Amino acid sequence: MNEFTRTIIEWYNEYKRDLPWRESSDPYLIWISEIILQQTRVAQGYDYYLRFIGRFPNVQTLADADEDEVMKYWQGLGYYSRARNLHAAARSMKGVFPKTYKEVLSLKGVGEYTAAAICSFAYGMPYAVVDGNVYRVLSRYFGIDTPIDSTEGKKLFAALANEMLDKKHPALYNQGIMDFGAIQCTPQSPNCLFCPLAESCSALATGRVALLPVKQHK
Ligand code: ADE
Repeated sequence: MNEFTRTIIEWYNEYKRDLPWRESSDPYLIWISEIILQQTRVAQGYDYYLRFIGRFPNVQTLADADEDEVMKYWQGLGYYSRARNLHAAARSMKGVFPKTYKEVLSLKGVGEYTAAAICSFAYGMPYAVVDGNVYRVLSRYFGIDTPIDSTEGKKLFAALANEMLDKKHPALYNQGIMDFGAIQCTPQSPNCLFCPLAESCSALATGRVALLPVKQHK
């Protein structure tokens, strides 16, 4: 395995955050957590997640609920279309969470990032997550200044993310790079002094940590 991937997984095994949705491989629970975390920080989403799955523990209870009640459990989280989409998607499932990447991706409110997270965490499928954390870590480590919001950049980073993915342990790797970006390789003042990737980090070697990733449109 390449050094980058191995180091991310080693780091994760030591420093990972204990989060309730990580204790399960139930695709329904992972789906709920990922939809909450699309636009909400972990610290705020945590209690909402526990309350939500306490009342709606599976596809069927969510599908059977009135929309008003689902919205009540979302009150305060914002971006309310997320809750309406969750409810509509649960009703479309006929009691069974979909099992293929294509079907998961076709759920209302699920994009490529969320589909990759659900399929890798729940089913161990080899799909790499690509989000802001991943753009930041990869652009810095490999010293890539292609804008992340350009067509070329999106293609390049998606390909690189899939190349770095541990195909045998996609969940471990995806969670690892997510946490690495959130805790270690942060947007402002990343912890380069105590970084296990520092020795081979291109941005650190060339003084470009604060300049990467590059965005075309601010
Ligand atoms: N942000 C998005 N998905 C997440 C997850 N599974 N764990 C922590 N933060 C996340």
